[in-house]
Amino acid sequence: MFQILTMLLMEMQLCVVSALFTVEVPQQLYVAEYGSNVTMECRFPVNGSLNLELLSVVWEQKRQGQLESRDVYTLRNGKALLSSQHRDYMGRAALLHKELKSGRALLQITNVKITDAGSYLCLIDYQGADYKYITLEIKASYKIINIQKTRKWNEDKFAFICQSEGFPLAEVFWQNEKNFSLSGSANTTYTLTTDGLYNVTSILIINQNMNENYSCVFWNKELNENTSAYIYSLALMSTQHGGQKSLILFIVATCVIVLVLLPALIIFQKRKSFKNCRAKKDRKGKFSPPVTDENRGYYNSQIETSYLSTVIYSGESRNVNL
Ligand SMILES: *[C@@H]1O[C@H](CO)[C@@H](O)[C@H](O)[C@H]1NC(C)=O
Ligand SMILES: *[C@@H]1O[C@H](CO)[C@@H](O)[C@H](O)[C@H]1NC(C)=O
Ligand SMILES: *[C@@H]1O[C@H](CO)[C@@H](O)[C@H](O)[C@H]1NC(C)=O
Ligand SMILES: *[C@@H]1O[C@H](CO)[C@@H](O)[C@H](O)[C@H]1NC(C)=O
Ligand SMILES: *[C@@H]1O[C@H](CO)[C@@H](O)[C@H](O)[C@H]1NC(C)=O
Ligand SMILES: *[C@@H]1O[C@H](CO)[C@@H](O)[C@H](O)[C@H]1NC(C)=O
Ligand SMILES: *[C@@H]1O[C@H](CO)[C@@H](O)[C@H](O)[C@H]1NC(C)=O
Repeated sequence: MFQILTMLLMEMQLCVVSALFTVEVPQQLYVAEYGSNVTMECRFPVNGSLNLELLSVVWEQKRQGQLESRDVYTLRNGKALLSSQHRDYMGRAALLHKELKSGRALLQITNVKITDAGSYLCLIDYQGADYKYITLEIKASYKIINIQKTRKWNEDKFAFICQSEGFPLAEVFWQNEKNFSLSGSANTTYTLTTDGLYNVTSILIINQNMNENYSCVFWNKELNENTSAYIYSLALMSTQHGGQKSLILFIVATCVIVLVLLPALIIFQKRKSFKNCRAKKDRKGKFSPPVTDENRGYYNSQIETSYLSTVIYSGESRNVNL
């Protein structure tokens, strides 16, 4: 109520002194990226040094299709009037006081939201009153596309999922490498986040045998912006064989163990046969002739056989693993 009264008073004053006092806007339209900061400007005439006590500035926002306007920031007789500020702007909207002395009423909004978009009124009363309107548009690019690949185990099909958030609503296209459209077999849905962004999810189902690279494109028509994500078939292969990775690791580990154990085994065998040989020699020593080269060859071949059987065994274990 109070505010409306002020407005009326200001408008009455406006009729009287409008010819002397005018508010100007250097920029009528502002486009801000979601989450960024924006500073909108209104100019008013200041003669000499500013007398802050005589200055009142009102910034109000009106969203499209809504009748009620929201108080963004009010300065009354040089003092901030935060009690009337709409809660959506609490801690986010400020008037840059330093600039007032040069006749610039700068409204800064930090961390802009989708709901900040709309028409802004700046009304200035400084021994005379005037107002202007400024339009603020908020855009949110579909910057990050999250990709997910899943396989439907019961069917020979893959599901590719592309998901991203932005504003306004984007259309999603799917293509293969030959730029052949696959959008026909995709299902695109969206939800609204609490921040007013569109959370768009598109699912493409393809047959397993279609081994190609794919891309999903988020087309933000109003921003004339396309954001793409690529899904490579190689990545698909790794997903497909993800379950076999541990098996491969197991095989590698087995091979390593075999390779390490093998020389140990050979040495062990060698020692054993050497001992046997010595034992035989000790036993037979006095009666038998010394070990001939022929005999040594026999022992060696025995070692070779045990080595071979080990290899065959490890080969078998590999086959079992595969
Ligand atoms: C927005 O303004 C706030 C406060 O002045 C600052 O901390 C922040 O870094 C600014 N953000 C960007 C994206 O400029
Ligand atoms: C500016 O202020 C001076 C003296 O303070 C006065 O003489 C002059 O008329 C003023 N001009 C305007 C445009 O108000
Ligand atoms: C597919 O489209 C992209 C960009 O739109 C282009 O660079 C590429 O050459 C096209 N590929 C084919 C095979 O037409
Ligand atoms: C698309 O997905 C939604 C949600 O998962 C589902 O309700 C709808 O039936 C699907 N539409 C088609 C054509 O598959
Ligand atoms: C967007 O939707 C996906 C599923 O469709 C969900 O996992 C994700 O949490 C949503 N993100 C936000 C910010 O709501
Ligand atoms: C997919 O793209 C990658 C990288 O550009 C390429 O190496 C590969 O051959 C492509 N695969 C197919 C099936 O076209
Ligand atoms: C984005 O993609 C759509 C559909 O493929 C196309 O019509 C439009 O020209 C593209 N826009 C830009 C900026 O590349």
